[in-house]
Amino acid sequence: MSEGVRTRLWIGNEWADAEGGRTFATVNPATEEVIAEVAEARAAEIDRAVAAARAAFRDGSWRRMNPHKRSRLLWKLADLVEAHADELGLTETRDNGKPYFEARRIDVPSVAQTLRYYAGLADKVQGDTVPVPGPFLNYTLREPLGVVGAIIPWNFPLSMAAWKVAPALACGNTVVLKPAEQTPLTALRFGELAAEAGFPPGVLNVVPGFGETAGAALVRHPGVDAISFTGSTGVGRIIMREAAATLKKVSLELGGKSPNIVFADADLGVAVKGASMGVFYGKGEVCAAGSRILVERAVHDEFVDGLKGLAAKATVGDPMAPTTRLGAIVSEEQLDRVMGYVEAGRRDGAKVVAGGERVKVNGRGNFVTATVFSGVDPAMTIAREEIFGPVAAVIPFDDVDDAVAKANDSLYGLAAGVWTRDIGKAHRLAAEIDAGTVWINTYNQYAPGSPFGGYKESGFGRDLGFQSALEKYTHLKSVWVALDR
Ligand code: NAI
Ligand code: MG
Repeated sequence: MSEGVRTRLWIGNEWADAEGGRTFATVNPATEEVIAEVAEARAAEIDRAVAAARAAFRDGSWRRMNPHKRSRLLWKLADLVEAHADELGLTETRDNGKPYFEARRIDVPSVAQTLRYYAGLADKVQGDTVPVPGPFLNYTLREPLGVVGAIIPWNFPLSMAAWKVAPALACGNTVVLKPAEQTPLTALRFGELAAEAGFPPGVLNVVPGFGETAGAALVRHPGVDAISFTGSTGVGRIIMREAAATLKKVSLELGGKSPNIVFADADLGVAVKGASMGVFYGKGEVCAAGSRILVERAVHDEFVDGLKGLAAKATVGDPMAPTTRLGAIVSEEQLDRVMGYVEAGRRDGAKVVAGGERVKVNGRGNFVTATVFSGVDPAMTIAREEIFGPVAAVIPFDDVDDAVAKANDSLYGLAAGVWTRDIGKAHRLAAEIDAGTVWINTYNQYAPGSPFGGYKESGFGRDLGFQSALEKYTHLKSVWVALDR
């Protein structure tokens, strides 16, 4: 077994096997080789993990810990993540297929940053005093919810774990984390590092398994108080329905078909680069990917030429090679889905001006070239559905009103980009677009303090942020005290 690869369930700060030694394979999508057989949690193992998390919550070892100490532990975990950055980056790359450069230089540092940000929240979970009529003192307390079930996707496995785990723990909750079946490895190591940092047993448990078994069992479990989910809109709908039985608090960060709007008055060179990064970064396996590129008609052809040029330069290759820009698509199933959309685009009459090819690297792996469609009608499938691959649909528009109408003509509302030198226009669009995040003359910016989440069918609740984390991971309790008796 290679360094850093852990394959058993992480429950109560101990490694455990699944019943009957049940396992599943996790595959390196760049080589199609099995990296490891990982213990597979189902209902019984989820039950054990929830019991461990429940016990750690009840005994107060975590929620009643001196908040400065909770803060120091989160900080210590950030240090350990940094100390193991090469190893974690390598494991992430092997499991997910993303370039090592991205995993090591962007994902892993962002995990440490997120942990440190929420280390700063741990001693600031505070309420208010409220002026009320009569001889009363009224104040509010922010209390942890209890056991949080975190279900995360495969596109940013360790970052998504940190986005959920760090704020939930900072607020005094305990966590059962179910990583995606495609990418369970870094989450397991993260759990182990948390124990090394000094987190008490049961505070963070990591249980790999499939959605319909492990994920669903977590959502249904009466001992789980809240579900924090990132993944597809379809599964978000199932989770909301299933959580109704036990009235769990749910937050859902779901899919997107985010518009990236380029006006004729933008610095076109900068906009082309930004749009290219916006849709191709992370192989387009990014919930906020700017996959609907709306371009003002006057600069449409010039823009398409520019994007075509950059798509051709987005080198597909071995994720370990420093020249690689597009790594391997996470799984064969996902690549089939992406290629299905490329076919649908062709069939509907859109024009492939770049890419659109399934390729192998050194004769193996799930790769696709950066793809640009022009001549896209907003009614086409490739303009409406989330593809989750490096596929851009370019659509022309006529003026500001048309841009806003087209941008908002989507069931999704996760993010949007606006490229213009006109500051008034930029702010007008920022206000009029139905999306949880709007980037002006930039794209794909994230920081722990800035809340991230959706409008419409992109879900509700926010990851990251300060106030949003308190709202998501705490109860607000009102306490009344009579002062005259
Ligand atoms: P998915 O939504 O099935 O998987 C995300 C997570 O949910 C995984 O941990 C999975 O095990 C879990 N899950 C699946 N079914 C569940 C259930 N019934 N109950 C509880 N948990 C469940 O996404 P999938 O199938 O991997 O990808 C399909 C499409 O979803 C992608 O092509 C993409 O369009 C979208 N997607 C969006 C993401 C985002 O960040 N918004 C992330 C991953 C996928
Ligand atoms: Mg894998």
